[in-house]
Amino acid sequence: MEAGSAGPENASLGGEIVGRINQLAAISETSADLTRTFLTREHRAAAELILAWMRSAGMAAHLDAIGNVCGRYEGDRPNLPCLMLGSHYDTVRDAGKWDGPLGLITAISCVGDLARRGRRLPFAIEVTGFADEEGVRFASTLLGSRAVAGTFEESVLGTKDRAGIPMREALIEFGLDPDHIGAAARTRRQLHAYIELHIEQGPVLEAQNLPVGVVTAIAGATRLAARLTGMAGHAGTVPMRLRQDALAGAAECIGAIEEFCRTDDSDLVGTVGYIHAMPGATNVIPGQVSFTIDVRAPTDAHRKRAVADIVRRIENIAKRRGLSLQLDVTHENRTVPCAPWLKQQVAEAISGEGFPVFELPSGAGHDGMAMIDIADVGMVFVRCRGGISHHPDEHVEFADADAGARVLLRLIENFRPRDEAQSNSG
Ligand code: HGY
Ligand code: MN
Ligand code: MN
Repeated sequence: MEAGSAGPENASLGGEIVGRINQLAAISETSADLTRTFLTREHRAAAELILAWMRSAGMAAHLDAIGNVCGRYEGDRPNLPCLMLGSHYDTVRDAGKWDGPLGLITAISCVGDLARRGRRLPFAIEVTGFADEEGVRFASTLLGSRAVAGTFEESVLGTKDRAGIPMREALIEFGLDPDHIGAAARTRRQLHAYIELHIEQGPVLEAQNLPVGVVTAIAGATRLAARLTGMAGHAGTVPMRLRQDALAGAAECIGAIEEFCRTDDSDLVGTVGYIHAMPGATNVIPGQVSFTIDVRAPTDAHRKRAVADIVRRIENIAKRRGLSLQLDVTHENRTVPCAPWLKQQVAEAISGEGFPVFELPSGAGHDGMAMIDIADVGMVFVRCRGGISHHPDEHVEFADADAGARVLLRLIENFRPRDEAQSNSG
């Protein structure tokens, strides 16, 4: 039995998918939890496993210039433009095993099903596993899909990870050429569309008691890196009124960000996910603190106004406390609408599988935010238990994984390129 396939459920794709999710989840930088970041040994091991799955599904497969895994299943004639499917295969720290891999593994299993039946379509199918969507190791995110979209910014090659290793060096260490990333870029002419299946990462489908949904748009996001510098000092001798305590200042900033977002009368969200205090000793007043800020809102205008407000609040706190402030935007992505002609085909596939059609936005970011620069984007959401994600309790029931695969396979087999789709709709 081929590695990664399950037992009797194998009749449906769900068994193969769940078996492979578990197999991929075993590749982690830490034994205690699931963490798999960009350009690590684990990235390489995961890539090898996925490339093997792609080849066993009848695809020609290779690692591209930035470490994405790329599979291609030819259409009924060679060199046809493709329907690109995929998702990312990197994770956050202490992650769940479905965020990213479900979409990638489901796409590979769908192609494998076509290959087993000898089915060739009037377009090629490409499946891309993006090497870095989360942006955990280096501050910037969507590195894999930006390289495919041709929008990778050379300036990020200088960013360093927590160990001080520049991305440029990490790429060389991984066996890739940092001056050659442009080779990963594709063009709009080569793609009919980009469609991604992904877990919802929220509670809406569960509340609606639905296994799948049609994504309407991907919310934009702004990420910032803040650094407050005060004066380190002896915890026992410096009077409170004379302190320039960088960690106390950061704490006030974090409280102000939470208060501002919580009292906003919309779905504005603000998160400080990482903080590091230096020198980091119990009896030393922290002299410098670095922390990250992630801001998202239903519209780009609202998000930009909120970011400007938050920056003003942080600047005032730093000034009042005599702290110097360095604040940089490390990532900015506009809200990306899913194309109506693709939403229509996702909806048809969902109702074709007997499920009610339900539309919902994505508060989470996805590779479609980069792929929009070279293709129209469509997304299928799959229910996840309790809406939990970016957490080891993230879980998808077998039936929902299977439902997602059936919907994606129907979507693929009935896919009509844009011109055809729009002429048919009259
Ligand atoms: O941050 C996000 O929304 C995505 O999971 N990278
Ligand atoms: Mn994620
Ligand atoms: Mn994801």
